[in-house]
Amino acid sequence: MSSPEGWGEPLYDRVLAGVPAGSTVLDVGCGPGVFAAFALARGMRVTGLDADRSALARAERTAPAARFVLGDAHQLEGEYDVVALVQVLAHVTNPVKVLQEAGRVGGLVRATVWGREEESDVRLFGEALAPFLPPRAQRRTPAGPPPLTDPERFRKVAGLAGLEVVALDEVTSPFAYPDEDSLVGPLLASDIGRFAANRAGPAAVREAVLETFAPRRDGEGYRLQNLFRVLDARPAPTPT
Ligand SMILES: C[S@@+](CC[C@H](N)C(=O)[O-])C[C@H]1O[C@@H](n2cnc3c(N)ncnc32)[C@H](O)[C@@H]1O
Repeated sequence: MSSPEGWGEPLYDRVLAGVPAGSTVLDVGCGPGVFAAFALARGMRVTGLDADRSALARAERTAPAARFVLGDAHQLEGEYDVVALVQVLAHVTNPVKVLQEAGRVGGLVRATVWGREEESDVRLFGEALAPFLPPRAQRRTPAGPPPLTDPERFRKVAGLAGLEVVALDEVTSPFAYPDEDSLVGPLLASDIGRFAANRAGPAAVREAVLETFAPRRDGEGYRLQNLFRVLDARPAPTPT
């Protein structure tokens, strides 16, 4: 699966809702810097942090007016008006610790996660490939506590991190693919897509993907609706 350009804008918009221009934003797990560039365009003063040097090199090209630092989300430094965690919490070892750190250095914490699997059309990529994958890869229920895609779990984890939840909003972000190739090509180029194509042949995989996505056809292309949740939180006041 690949995310088409521009998919994140409704989400980024909610992350920065009500934040005045000139505010300092720490973009934790900034990746290639797309949110950093969006925040700069909104007049924010942006610092991006990531543990991956190659992501930081891309981010510097995407958002040259931001400052970028190599670092670990579990150990933050400085003081910011907003700490943004855009699609990062599912990738860190300890989301409670990361949110705790965000609340320690930030006046506001805005964190986004995917909605539940059944709430987003991207699940259709997995469904289309499932017949070509071994049974183990088809099993999609991981062991362990419920993931943060479960809103109650997300609220609980924020509370454990010492944050006061102001809102947990839903944001729908459309993924628009202009034609069949833009939908199928990146999938066939991914590890899982190549695995399926090696087993069944690229033509069979392509046909299965297009059949699965037929209900999402939109003119020449495809339009998927995907749900995200945005946590809007601040450090809980300490009892006096
Ligand atoms: C799915 S990407 C999201 C990137 C970006 N926020 C976006 O929305 O495009 C997750 C990012 O978190 C970074 N990351 C994961 N664990 C991290 C950690 N402990 N400290 C800092 N960055 C981390 C990864 O290197 C990756 O760039």
